[in-house]
Amino acid sequence: AIDPQFNENREQVDEHEGHAVWGPVEEPEELGIHGTHVAVDFDICLADGACVEDCPVDVFEWVDTPGHPESEEKADPANEAQCIDCMLCVDVCPVDAIDVDAG
Ligand code: SF4
Ligand code: F3S
Ligand code: ZN
Repeated sequence: AIDPQFNENREQVDEHEGHAVWGPVEEPEELGIHGTHVAVDFDICLADGACVEDCPVDVFEWVDTPGHPESEEKADPANEAQCIDCMLCVDVCPVDAIDVDAG
């Protein structure tokens, strides 16, 4: 499961579509965590898609990640600022790849 303390235990190594990327990143096998308020551990995500389908405000967008051992696409929290903290995505992800910091 994603480490809920990722922002203390990892370093921000990049930015993607306006959100943080928390390392380590070693493409294409190791992709780190995307987002901060809505954080998706790309190394755990296996492209189940429940979060993309269920989020009521369309926070997630698919991104292609060819060569990643778990899956060749990931749910990217592209619109994390729109999140309304419903926690649905956290509940439906079968591999606990998502952390939402509802404060
Ligand atoms: Fe979307 Fe709710 Fe998850 Fe926020 S907590 S990203 S609103 S499903
Ligand atoms: Fe990935 Fe979990 Fe969403 S596996 S696509 S973060 S439901
Ligand atoms: Zn991203």
